[in-house]
Amino acid sequence: MILLHIDSSADTADDSVSRRLTDLFATTWRARDGSAEHRHRDLCADPVPVLTPAYTALGRRVEREGFVPPAKVPALIENAAEEREWDLTLPLITELLAADTVLLGVPMYNFAVPAALKAWIDRVTFPGAYTDADTGENLLRDTRVVVLMARGGGYGPGTPRESFDFQTPYLTAYFGDLGVAPENLHLVATELTLAGLLPHLAGHEDLAADSFAQACAAVTALAAT
Ligand SMILES: Cc1cc2nc3c(=O)[nH]c(=O)nc-3n(C[C@H](O)[C@H](O)[C@H](O)COP(=O)(O)O)c2cc1C
Repeated sequence: MILLHIDSSADTADDSVSRRLTDLFATTWRARDGSAEHRHRDLCADPVPVLTPAYTALGRRVEREGFVPPAKVPALIENAAEEREWDLTLPLITELLAADTVLLGVPMYNFAVPAALKAWIDRVTFPGAYTDADTGENLLRDTRVVVLMARGGGYGPGTPRESFDFQTPYLTAYFGDLGVAPENLHLVATELTLAGLLPHLAGHEDLAADSFAQACAAVTALAAT
């Protein structure tokens, strides 16, 4: 079993709440099966480069050909810039395809996901990479995706800023469209992480502690099954 653990917080492990949650998941998950493989990708320490025109040109050429498996993409590369883009992209695709479980730590930045994670999403979502060229079946249908989100404020049902949560609908739509089965996609949020810091959140410290405790319980349960 392979766990692909991806963090995207700009904060270090000491300060980041999403990193604490992904660490809890990974530690619990490893304790279950000592032979399991844990791969960690830190998108802040090791950023994925944003796309260039060579990536999009290669992607269009691949799309014109229909379902081209990654192994056949090199035959469609026309220049050094496209080769460089493919060299940056293929390892990410291979890593995602190999994972049984993908664990994502996702802070809320400006109501959405960090640019570091969006850069990974844009690059790894290469045309045809997740479709079996022979059968047309999606190669991620059995992959489990666990998304652990951290937000400074509160966005729960009935709160004034409920509609400002663009993380949950975006990541649900993205992974669903990528082919991850709905029953294999799990999103957990811890909220009010800035309650002890921001004056307008003063008095919400207990709610923040409850939210974190509930998230930890959900993470432990997900990692143990
Ligand atoms: C650049 C930036 C933008 C942020 N934008 C929001 C936001 O839109 N809404 C919010 O509730 N918190 C926001 N926050 C606060 C973070 O979501 C919060 O600190 C969270 O705990 C970050 O995750 P981390 O602890 O794993 O780094 C922002 C923080 C940063 C650094």
